[in-house]
Amino acid sequence: MDNTVGQPLDRVDGRLKVTGAARYSAEYPHEGLVHAVIVTSTIARGTITGVDARAAEQAPGVLAVLSPEKPPRLAKDPAKKQKPQDRFVHVLQTRQVDYQHQPVALVIADTLERATHAAALVQVRYRASKARVDLKAERSRAYAPKKQAMNGREADLVQGQAPTAKPDAQVDATYVTPYEHHNPLEPHATTAVWDGDALTVYDATQGVFNARDRLAALFGLPPEKVRVITKFIGGGFGGKGSTWAHTVLAVMAARAVSRPVKLVLRREQMFGPVGFRPETHQRVRLEARKDGGLLRVRHDVLTATSTFDEFVEPSAAVTRVLYASEQISTSHRLARLSLGTPTFMRAPGEASGLHALECAMDELAHTLGMDPLALRLRNHADTDPETGLPWSSKSLKECYRVGAERFGWARRDPTPRSMKDGRTLIGWGMATATYPVRRSKAGARATLLPDGHARVVSGSQDLGTGAYTVFTQVAADALGLMPAQVSFDLGDTRMPQTPVSGGSQTTASVGSAVKLAARALRDKAIALAVADPGSPLHGLSARDVTVERGQLVAGGKKDSYAALLQRQKLDTLEAEAESEPGKEKEQYAMHSFGAQFCEVRVDPDLGEVRVSRWVGVYGAGTILNPKTARSQMYGGIVMGIGMALMEHSVVDPRSGRFITRDLADYHVPVNPDVPDMDILFVPEDDPHVNPIGVKGIGEIGITGVSAAIANAVFHATGRRVRELPLTLDRILQET
Ligand code: MOS
Repeated sequence: MDNTVGQPLDRVDGRLKVTGAARYSAEYPHEGLVHAVIVTSTIARGTITGVDARAAEQAPGVLAVLSPEKPPRLAKDPAKKQKPQDRFVHVLQTRQVDYQHQPVALVIADTLERATHAAALVQVRYRASKARVDLKAERSRAYAPKKQAMNGREADLVQGQAPTAKPDAQVDATYVTPYEHHNPLEPHATTAVWDGDALTVYDATQGVFNARDRLAALFGLPPEKVRVITKFIGGGFGGKGSTWAHTVLAVMAARAVSRPVKLVLRREQMFGPVGFRPETHQRVRLEARKDGGLLRVRHDVLTATSTFDEFVEPSAAVTRVLYASEQISTSHRLARLSLGTPTFMRAPGEASGLHALECAMDELAHTLGMDPLALRLRNHADTDPETGLPWSSKSLKECYRVGAERFGWARRDPTPRSMKDGRTLIGWGMATATYPVRRSKAGARATLLPDGHARVVSGSQDLGTGAYTVFTQVAADALGLMPAQVSFDLGDTRMPQTPVSGGSQTTASVGSAVKLAARALRDKAIALAVADPGSPLHGLSARDVTVERGQLVAGGKKDSYAALLQRQKLDTLEAEAESEPGKEKEQYAMHSFGAQFCEVRVDPDLGEVRVSRWVGVYGAGTILNPKTARSQMYGGIVMGIGMALMEHSVVDPRSGRFITRDLADYHVPVNPDVPDMDILFVPEDDPHVNPIGVKGIGEIGITGVSAAIANAVFHATGRRVRELPLTLDRILQET
């Protein structure tokens, strides 16, 4: 049997991408397509007293200007949620302004340039009131969010009993992580096309079905009248995980002018109504025995949401599961600020939370005079500290061992500032990585075609990470076909329903459904063959039949998918399947784990940090495709390097405005910022997580990265910078 799962198959959509043939949401040509440009608020809080659109309306090419002066009609209040995942979106229904860069008008014109020009002519008058954007100042007003906003978790949790032993060492430190904005190469983009009362939307979304349902509700349509298509996404990172204002606005615009409308956010508008990673202030207190054994862990989080909606960055949740300790106390407090609503950003909670916890662990190791890796091994959680359940599988110790060996960790001189290359300070740091295993109900459909090839489809989305490729592999193996004999398609609400591509759950959820559908189709074909008097396999037991490269084989006899269909006078043969979680979550705690090791080089005079080496080792279940998987980890680590060293959205406290609004001010890593990386997956066979044994790898890559870098910077310089990013001014100030 030629298994393709586990092989480093090239991306099946690679050629389409490099030739420019892959079509993204802003690239669908439509007869009569026109362009919409959003006008955004220039105040952070207050009321719109008037919108003067006369100049804009008279500008060349302008078809319409929409504003709260005459709110476009909606069937439902966009300030209410139909589903918990819905966002309250500002779509010209109200004169109230809740944050800077809130959509306050929409201009539709025949060309993008004319729409952009006219948008600048719209005069919006405001009565401004004082914006609250200082998280620290709002601490006294912060509240404990309800379970629903915590994705079903308690805001506060105390696990275990207060220890009676006196600690030999303690750490009490507060870490600050800043606002960060998603900056995928492809900005948010929507093309909306009405055909009578039917709506088709090409939307850069991580969840076509959520977008469909939200639009259907807001525009008063049955869901089957709304089709959302997302064939390719140029990066999402969680930012495209919700249906935001621009998608609704594009549909409104298309209705207003009775033309197909395209709406693409400008880069600066990515720093507005489409979410961000909120600032966190995290106090971590650790108490330990001399041998490093944790007695007590406390992790208290202050973070921000908007004044009108609720999102919690659950930074302390990871502390509930990572290390064994006699007692673990965690809390989350949320302050309401005059900003847009924050959202998921790659490993929401884990990325920021592990920064604090893993830096604190490094501080504790230093205080104890203990190796940071040894401290983590000493506190390894053999069962889940939160639920007490056994792990479905856990390879963390193996990740530590393999990573330490590859990195040469044993050669680390623990004394800060002791390792140098000329004047350059060298630092070695490490941190643990982890991310939960998630899975939701998903469907898939597999169809045999007359030539014996198969077409397999599932709603779903490919964020650019390789979903097309790995699902092709899963389907090929389950059908007994070569990957080239399978065409896989996704990104369309007319296909079987699937969950949002978030929480690293796409492969686990959709892959399981693809396997079941493909397997069902294969079994259907085999059953037909053994019952078919014309088949060489007639009368044999279905159980004895195997399929390889489309050939059905048993007892030295052969049939084929193509011949079977022909004899049966069938154009196609089809099977559909759904896969959903069972009771495994009640029996096992399911997480992927990993170890991040890095080397930094710090210029002692300039404070400049370069990451010069990376070893990342992960246990993440079955790796369907080592090539695309490695790319996922590269991406996560690169994003973590950005988080550690440069990414930082700055809010002007006077105006409430994010003043970093382009890639010149908001820095993301580029090639010279990124070293060669050594990525390994330890073999992990997990029979419990799902039918294909995958744990999901979209997010674990970024977890622990900023802590490993901060810890390495401490090792290099002897100074702790507890606020991200580790910019050179902070390092020099501390040095
Ligand atoms: Mo991911 S931040 O859940 O898209």
